[in-house]
Amino acid sequence: MRRAIYPGSFDPVTNGHLDIIERGCKLFDEIIIGILVNPDKQPFFTVEERHEMLTAVVKSISQGGCTLRVDSFSGLLVNYAVAQEADVIVRGIRAISDYEYELQMALMNRRLAPSVETVFMMPAETYSYVSSRLVKEVFQLGGTVTGLVPPLIEKRMKEKLNQQ
Ligand code: PNS
Repeated sequence: MRRAIYPGSFDPVTNGHLDIIERGCKLFDEIIIGILVNPDKQPFFTVEERHEMLTAVVKSISQGGCTLRVDSFSGLLVNYAVAQEADVIVRGIRAISDYEYELQMALMNRRLAPSVETVFMMPAETYSYVSSRLVKEVFQLGGTVTGLVPPLIEKRMKEKLNQQ
């Protein structure tokens, strides 16, 4: 039984995240999608909204025999991984520029919890430039994000912007 944690802010979930989850499903029996509760950041969507949206959109991906669970966590990621009895942390790497930060995190996490391995996965090239940060920026400035996030997320982003 291979259980992995796929952690992140998911503010919002993008097609790049979903691509990694779908690929991860071929490797792991269970993936827990862990939303970081970060009190220092002012998010676009609340944790509850992200939880609900992630739960809805992961239903559309091809899971094979893999179980997907959406959850949230605070504090150290490795403590959460150990508490969930997950032996792998999955992180997506888009470009070399991601690698330096991800390597630092992976090595720090290894130091803190040597039993937990970090696995880097590459999304499809189509999503190699897609990040939640850019999606939010483009959207808030009136650009289109169609094809970069699932239609449900685009709809929810429009609703959110109208509420502001
Ligand atoms: O989607 P993000 O913002 O790139 O995800 C970053 C995340 C959640 C993986 C990272 O910030 C994290 O693990 N935070 C939890 C706190 C922690 O464990 N910090 C030490 C990392 S070495």
